[in-house]
Amino acid sequence: MRILSGIQPSGTLHLGNYFGMMKPALELQEKGEAFYFIANYHSMTSLFDPVERCKNTLDVALDFLACGLDPKKTVFFRQSDVPEVTELSWLLSTVTPMGMLERATSYKDKIARGIAPMHGLFAYPVLMAADILIYDSNVVPVGRDQKQHLEMTRDIAIKFNEQYGQTFVIPEPQIRDEVAVVPGTDGQKMSKSYGNTIEIFGDEKATRKKIMGIVMDSRTPAEPKPDADKNLAIQLLKLVAPAEVAKDFENRLRAGGLGYGDLKKALFENYWNYFADARKKRAELVANPDYVNKVLCDGALKARTKAREVLKRARKASGLE
Ligand code: ADP
Ligand code: TRP
Repeated sequence: MRILSGIQPSGTLHLGNYFGMMKPALELQEKGEAFYFIANYHSMTSLFDPVERCKNTLDVALDFLACGLDPKKTVFFRQSDVPEVTELSWLLSTVTPMGMLERATSYKDKIARGIAPMHGLFAYPVLMAADILIYDSNVVPVGRDQKQHLEMTRDIAIKFNEQYGQTFVIPEPQIRDEVAVVPGTDGQKMSKSYGNTIEIFGDEKATRKKIMGIVMDSRTPAEPKPDADKNLAIQLLKLVAPAEVAKDFENRLRAGGLGYGDLKKALFENYWNYFADARKKRAELVANPDYVNKVLCDGALKARTKAREVLKRARKASGLE
């Protein structure tokens, strides 16, 4: 079974990225042959600073390795080290209906937020389909916001197979319900673009301040809170604290008597402990950039071998060779 996923180097990774995508992806390393990549081509649709792209790419590599990506088990690479994917993207674009791309909610959302419409942004789902199909991927672990992209990938693969004969494996998304949408410090979906993130490897003081600054309602500590399970800090605590600890805080909040300040303090402490080992590992990796680069280069070599094989199949099927 081939497992594949990608993440854009468009900013600093946060708890939404970690629990929505990275953690499920890391667990799947044990279940099959995993291919994980840093989607730097995709980041060109929203980030226009080359120095920043390069730095973010290294940061994503460090974050993933620190969080447990094992390069002995998993092929880990930069998207742009396999340029074959852009050729496949062209082939796929010729079977992709305009209407499908026009219905893409991520495109519509980005335009609504004021990003200038450009062809790359419009064609984003086609390149993503190429990323997935070029490695004969079976399972794609992602957060819920990527569901529509996965549906498009499947439709595009089916269309190509119908047009040119059986060429591509049809992939399945894997979306974990319990972490489908991790809320940010304002209660909306946690996202780099909303300025509401808690970073995986945030600075201690700054992150404590962010967490202590989460706005709660004005009920007094003594008041019972029957809606304790909806409390933002409780929801986040459930992710980073042992289940019985989170449950205990939830019960105390429900019963009344637990102040929001104490709850947020517990959230910070559990967050800080949760990533303690990864933080140590990351510091070691930072001191060893040659190792990180070698992992990415070795990964690209392996990924490219597979990509060439599948691209050749698609070129043959469509009469290009
Ligand atoms: P952002 O919204 O911060 O720009 P990306 O779009 O780069 O994040 O997402 C990278 C991966 O992380 C995707 O698989 C996405 O589904 C997942 N992800 C991002 N934010 C969240 C969230 N708040 N909850 C669950 N998964 C998320
Ligand atoms: N669009 C994904 C995101 O923003 C990143 C991505 C690019 C991806 N290609 C992919 C994810 C292929 C899974 C599979 O998060």
